[in-house]
Amino acid sequence: MPALVLLGAQWGDEGKGKATDLLGGSVDYVVRYQGGNNAGHTVVVGDQKYALHLLPSGILSPGCTPVIGNGVVVDPAVLLSELSGLNERGVDTSKLLISGNAHLITPYNVTLDKVGERFLGKRKIGTTGRGIGPTYADKINRVGIRVQDLYDESILTQKVEAALELKNQLLAKLYNRRAIDSAQIVDGLLAYADQIKPFVADTTLILNNAIDEGKVVLFEGGQGTLLDVDHGTYPFVTSSNPTAGGACTGAGVGPTKINRVIGILKAYTTRVGAGPFPTELFDEDGEKLRVIGGERGVTTGRDRRCGWFDAVIARYATRVNGLTDFFLTKLDVLTGWEQIPVCVAYEIDGKRVEELPYSQTDFHHAKPVYEMLPGWTEDISKAKTFSELPKNAQAYVKALEEMSGAPISAIGVGPGRDETIEIRSFL
Ligand code: GDP
Ligand code: IMO
Ligand code: MG
Repeated sequence: MPALVLLGAQWGDEGKGKATDLLGGSVDYVVRYQGGNNAGHTVVVGDQKYALHLLPSGILSPGCTPVIGNGVVVDPAVLLSELSGLNERGVDTSKLLISGNAHLITPYNVTLDKVGERFLGKRKIGTTGRGIGPTYADKINRVGIRVQDLYDESILTQKVEAALELKNQLLAKLYNRRAIDSAQIVDGLLAYADQIKPFVADTTLILNNAIDEGKVVLFEGGQGTLLDVDHGTYPFVTSSNPTAGGACTGAGVGPTKINRVIGILKAYTTRVGAGPFPTELFDEDGEKLRVIGGERGVTTGRDRRCGWFDAVIARYATRVNGLTDFFLTKLDVLTGWEQIPVCVAYEIDGKRVEELPYSQTDFHHAKPVYEMLPGWTEDISKAKTFSELPKNAQAYVKALEEMSGAPISAIGVGPGRDETIEIRSFL
């Protein structure tokens, strides 16, 4: 099983960090392939809790080499502070590899993210304000700054000057902000160069060689399927491709090399930021899910919007990612409900719809069609096997599996590494 992708099947925060960490001990490389420090991946090891934003969750497994692929956008200040934070806690980060082709999040892109959101007012996306969108925009516009540019001062200077030419017009004339001095930006970036240099590598070559040698490579997605810029709820999305294909472009590995694609799926649904969310709850059930599930953003501290499980979305994730498995997380959070509604289809303008509509307008009008499943009251957090779950919890999992189109191979019953029921091995 040389290469597998692990990604979010909903709107992010499904528990990717925990799932990656669980496998980390058995894999050789864990690779982030898109996104940046907009992610917030929580890993709980014993009594220690880690919140990783940019670094792959495999960094906490000593035998594993963590890799930041070419598709990631890297804020150098965040990178270094996250590394030193881990070092202070005794985590060895020396094995980290960073693609020289990864793009850098510059201070002006963080500024543009924030002022752009302010400018949108009521129409804002609710971004994390980390400069993600403007940095990917620069990449596509071919005015981006890459990690490798840190090692050629003259190229770096030319590129920063070129990037700022238009941006300074925008900042001064549209957003009413002071123009940014390119020399200051260049000096700021160069100050990071020496510290980052030991990690910079030809990660595509290293990863392809590793796969050819039979090493196990795990691609860890950030965000989730419905936040994908192509397949998500555009424009309320992030600016990268968290879906499975993103692992290929974001790491330079061909699709024929990938054997398994695991969708991380919460037993209910959450979303942070703006955008449509058919099963969103505005009542005390929503509040209960938020409190019991601890649904507060790891990156921005915002409360997450909460709602019931949506099988239409899960089926869609199976389709656009070619999922081979699901890892169902946070089943324990649903303990205590007498009945649990599950959205099995949508009603759109009076018609029942089984698949996610491609039309944004239709999706905004989608009303959930619920089926009620019987709940359970027993504590399930100590369950180690599927048969130890109460009958109704087993039936809930089986029903979700049937509706979602791929087998559920693991179930999370708590945040800790060992609070997991493994049904079918991922490796
Ligand atoms: P990620 O962004 O997909 O890595 O997910 P986050 O870390 O942002 O959010 C998931 C939260 O759920 C974290 O606080 C995890 O510690 C927690 N978590 C993960 N799996 C489980 C589970 O099975 N049960 C419970 N109760 N918490 C979990
Ligand atoms: P993890 O990896 C949940 C959301 C933001 C906003 C939209 C665009 O922890 O699952 P951006 O800053 O990316 O331009 O914001 O995407 N978003 C996330 N929501 N989990 C995440 O990451 C997210 N990363 C971005 O809230 O709606
Ligand atoms: Mg998160």
